[in-house]
Amino acid sequence: MDKLIIRGGNRLAGTIPISGAKNSALTLLPCALLTDEPVTLRNLPRLADIDGFQHLMGQFGVAHTIQGSRPEDFGRVVTLEATRLTSSVAPYELVRKMRASILVLGPMLARSGDATVSLPGGCAIGDRPIDLHLQALEALGARIELTQGYVRAIAPDKGLPGGSFAFPVVSVGATENAVMAAALARGSSRLTNAAREPEIVDLCRLLIAMGAEIEGVGTSEITVHGQPRLHGATYRVMPDRIEAGSYACAAAITGGTVRLEGARADEMGATLDALRAIGVEVTSDAKSVTVSPNGPLRPVELTTDPYPGLATDMQAQLMSLLTQANGDSVLHETIFENRYMHVPELRRMGARIETSGRTATVHGPAPLVGAEVMATDLRASMSLIIAGLAARGETQVRRIYHLDRGYERLEEKLALVGADIQRVGDD
Ligand code: UD1
Repeated sequence: MDKLIIRGGNRLAGTIPISGAKNSALTLLPCALLTDEPVTLRNLPRLADIDGFQHLMGQFGVAHTIQGSRPEDFGRVVTLEATRLTSSVAPYELVRKMRASILVLGPMLARSGDATVSLPGGCAIGDRPIDLHLQALEALGARIELTQGYVRAIAPDKGLPGGSFAFPVVSVGATENAVMAAALARGSSRLTNAAREPEIVDLCRLLIAMGAEIEGVGTSEITVHGQPRLHGATYRVMPDRIEAGSYACAAAITGGTVRLEGARADEMGATLDALRAIGVEVTSDAKSVTVSPNGPLRPVELTTDPYPGLATDMQAQLMSLLTQANGDSVLHETIFENRYMHVPELRRMGARIETSGRTATVHGPAPLVGAEVMATDLRASMSLIIAGLAARGETQVRRIYHLDRGYERLEEKLALVGADIQRVGDD
């Protein structure tokens, strides 16, 4: 298994190209199940999770072709064609590796009237149930059966009637499943307390390009007027706001100036506000966001929340940055109950952090020292890389398959701006 070796202390400077958003791609890909015509996605990031998802779609008979993908390019163009679905079962072997597999349930149900998906297993960052996905689909008229670790959703009379659902808790994935299922329903559906993440806007835009009729895009009240059929479309995946935010933290912890090419400031509001409060200068134009130093780093109090609040996917990276702030910072994690697994690893590098339930206190500034650390999940892994960039000496990050799930060619991008980082085979 590969590991990353980082020698800390280099000040990052230059430009990092931002890839297509993983979380957006994972909800745009299953849209291809909603039509028998080709759906072409541009700027699809090259990631293990995306390959895994395409493999899963292949199980249902979805053909995919990759165009013009040179090894030196970031991203690729992929055309998916679900002319005829040959299966409607997502098996445990594939689902257990990737929680986002649950996002095939809604579109497959809408297209075939019958879909079976293995229940995703536990997840490192908490329980992560799928009850809201199932309740929303039931509200649209599906019958749900749970047997032997699988969930089967059936549309009586070969099609969903549509309906209304008020989410008791904001859920990105459950909103996505419901919107996709509603797009082919016989009637209209109304979703309230829906998630408003930019990735949901991206999903709605692709569906509209495919002929769907959706009102309230980007708000917490989405109305979908079901269509008898959707057609093919070509669509460009939005830039990855979490990748951009992660590199912003990496630049800031080294006191560097880095331009994040392709990042959109309007989709990163809470992250950029947090960086400014910490004392990082942030400027932007239509095509990029630039972070640069602006005096000593200041402690802050941050709380994760559904969009437009601060993304839980940015909490670990900001925590690493705050280890270097002049004073005590407090973080509150409100989305997932077990999302401080990077804390013990950061402590091994010299960070002084205490946790109590969902609150973490970071005592800064604490000089960081390189160490051998273990990645536990995607964003936690990134927080260790960020700490390693500021640490004295060498940091070895193991289990980097987590990073390969979500950061396209991470070590190449960091090397572009002067980081001393290398991928080596584990001994
Ligand atoms: C998505 C993102 C993930 C991000 C998260 C929150 C993808 C592929 N993943 O995950 O990176 O961290 O949004 O921004 O886009 N919940 C339930 N029942 C459900 C579903 C969710 O109780 O059926 C709870 C969860 O346990 C969690 C909260 O709702 O506490 C939010 O989860 P959700 O927004 O659904 O996260 P995901 O869509 O899984």
